[in-house]
Amino acid sequence: MKVLFICLGNICRSPLAEAIFLHKIKEKGWESRFQADSRGTANYHVGHPPDPRTIKNAAKNGIQINHVAQQVSPEDLRDFDLIISMDESNYSNILRLKNALLYQDKMHLMRDYDPIGKGKDVPDPYYGGEKDFQNVFEILERSMDGLISYL
Ligand code: 4NP
Repeated sequence: MKVLFICLGNICRSPLAEAIFLHKIKEKGWESRFQADSRGTANYHVGHPPDPRTIKNAAKNGIQINHVAQQVSPEDLRDFDLIISMDESNYSNILRLKNALLYQDKMHLMRDYDPIGKGKDVPDPYYGGEKDFQNVFEILERSMDGLISYL
């Protein structure tokens, strides 16, 4: 199963979601069953590594991130099995891609899997500070446990 995480810039939330997912899958010994990647709906940061504040916060929480930002394409919607957006705006942006309506059944919000705050947005930390990055980490960690138990 191939899981794709989506945010706006692909430098803060979705690469962290991907890294937390892969970390938890590895802990379970399920690497052969799952693959994960992430994309942004915007192209501002294509080719860039994750935001240094995301890398630092992830490291503080025991997670290493390896990613280069990419923009989501119509082919991604075809090729991944589960497509998880960080917020409603990302979700509506990918629904506007070519043929997206064919793949709507695969599209979910990250916090559909959050036992606290189900269906809310994962807030964009880009203009925030360390406490906003830590809040994103905690939301993603909790939501990922929900996603993995669903899988
Ligand atoms: P992300 O955060 O969508 O979680 O990667 C953002 C990164 C960059 C920008 C906005 C949000 N930006 O406006 O450049």
